[in-house]
Amino acid sequence: MSKLIYILNGPNLNLLGQRQVDIYGGETLEDITRDCTALADELGVAIEQFQSNHEGGLVDVIHQARGQAAGIIINAAAYTHTSVAILDALNTFEGPVVELHISQVHKREEFRHHSYIAQRADAVMAGFGTYGYQLAVRHLAKLLKA
Ligand code: DQA
Repeated sequence: MSKLIYILNGPNLNLLGQRQVDIYGGETLEDITRDCTALADELGVAIEQFQSNHEGGLVDVIHQARGQAAGIIINAAAYTHTSVAILDALNTFEGPVVELHISQVHKREEFRHHSYIAQRADAVMAGFGTYGYQLAVRHLAKLLKA
C-alpha cells in the first residue's frame, strides 16, 4: 500500500484564490490538492488533504493521523503563531512533519515570526508560494521511500 501523507490546512486557507491574492496567489485549495494528488501518484505515495477553521478540528485530524499517516505537511495558518494545542498534538505523531507557509512569514509582521510548530517540525518551508506544497510532497515522498 502507498505511504499516506496528510496535508493539513488551517483557518482561512479554504479561501485561497480569493483571499489576499497578492500574498497567497490565485490558486485554490482544490488546485493545490489536485496537483499534489497527481504528483503523489507519480512518486508512489498517497495524499489526503484536510482543512479546518477550528483549532480543535486540526487537533482531531492530527490524532487521526496517528497510525494512519506516514508523514504530515501542515500549514496551520494563524494557529502557527498561537497554538500550543497543535504543537502538543504534533508531538504525539511519530512520523516526519513539514511546516509550510505560502508566504515568507519572516518578511512580514513580527507576530508571524514565531512558530510553535517549528519546535516539532523536521523541516520548515516559507515563501515558495502554493508550489511549496508540491515541494513538500516531494521531500516527504523521498524520505518515506528511503
Ligand atoms: C500562512 C502565514 C500565516 O501567518 C497566516 O496567518 C496564514 C497563512 C502562509 O501560508 O503564508 O493564514 O501560514
